[in-house]
Amino acid sequence: MRPSKLLWAIPSATFHATRNQVFKRAPRVASALLRLGNVSGRGGAHEGPGATDYFRGVVSDYEQIAAHTGVVADAKDLFRNRRVLELGPGDTRAVALMAKLRGARLVEGYDAFDITSRDESYLRGIYEPLMARDGHDGGWERAKELLRDVRMLPSREALRAGEKRYDLVISRAVLEHVSDLDATFDDLARVTTPDAVQIHKVDLRCHGNKFDHELDFLMFPDAVYRRMASHTGMPNRVRVPGYLDLGARHGFSLVYAGATHRISVAEVDAVREHLASPFNVMAREALAVLGVWLVLVGPEHPLASKALHDLTTEALPVAPAEILSRF
Ligand SMILES: C[S@@+](CC[C@H](N)C(=O)[O-])C[C@H]1O[C@@H](n2cnc3c(N)ncnc32)[C@H](O)[C@@H]1O
Repeated sequence: MRPSKLLWAIPSATFHATRNQVFKRAPRVASALLRLGNVSGRGGAHEGPGATDYFRGVVSDYEQIAAHTGVVADAKDLFRNRRVLELGPGDTRAVALMAKLRGARLVEGYDAFDITSRDESYLRGIYEPLMARDGHDGGWERAKELLRDVRMLPSREALRAGEKRYDLVISRAVLEHVSDLDATFDDLARVTTPDAVQIHKVDLRCHGNKFDHELDFLMFPDAVYRRMASHTGMPNRVRVPGYLDLGARHGFSLVYAGATHRISVAEVDAVREHLASPFNVMAREALAVLGVWLVLVGPEHPLASKALHDLTTEALPVAPAEILSRF
């Protein structure tokens, strides 16, 4: 490894390992600090007024991907009458609010961290313009009314309790933070109807943990990375092939996958031999994909018969950027 990278990697590992200890020993304090700092994970450009565009883009993307995949004939019908679970909504319930406005029958959220903002002026600054831009009157009072029965489930136990109740599961920039994807999909298999649809956007980039290359975070050996990341929700480092066969292990059919970001194979080759195991022997194309849309359905959904059983990374199409937001 280049000495300059080593000079970056050692303090980075130390910083994250210390932070991880705080999250491990005092998770409620850590969540409270994230809340107080309004740390949303969206990035500074998508805060305040920028959040309105962001959430409009997020919801529109779910609708467009659903229509592109044939889950709905008309994009605007995605949420109508659905019972929706949003994984990892983050610090607002903006997506829940928009789903309600679009006719969802039930919306609930599950987040591993209790970071929903309690700051009324912050939330109001997002919800009011969101509603106004969609042509809905009533402002803050109407938003509160719509969100009154939107439950945020505080634990996996709470999520797993009860009947199979969701027929639409959505997430954005969440699955890459889930430390045990099989446990999460096991939960989803328990709480979704047999004809449920899942739409996930997964961000496989480094989330800022780099020196000068998008794959630098794959340099940390697994044992070191676990000490840095086990309790903080840092990326799990699962690469795209790990998502293509995830659903099938839990009874879901993958009916669409499309890459959102890629680097070139030459860029992969520039660092691959310096990456930790198993990344240093992974297929170049698998390392080159840095984001993916996934659409999965339950066994009784009409699209289940069109499952992409053997989709490989090499055959992964590019997601249709022309119908998607810039977020
Ligand atoms: C980058 S943020 C994205 C938040 C939101 N979806 C958005 O687009 O603004 C990642 C979210 O995933 C949540 N998260 C992390 N691990 C999770 C898990 N195992 N299950 C559910 N949510 C999780 C985090 O707390 C955070 O809210």
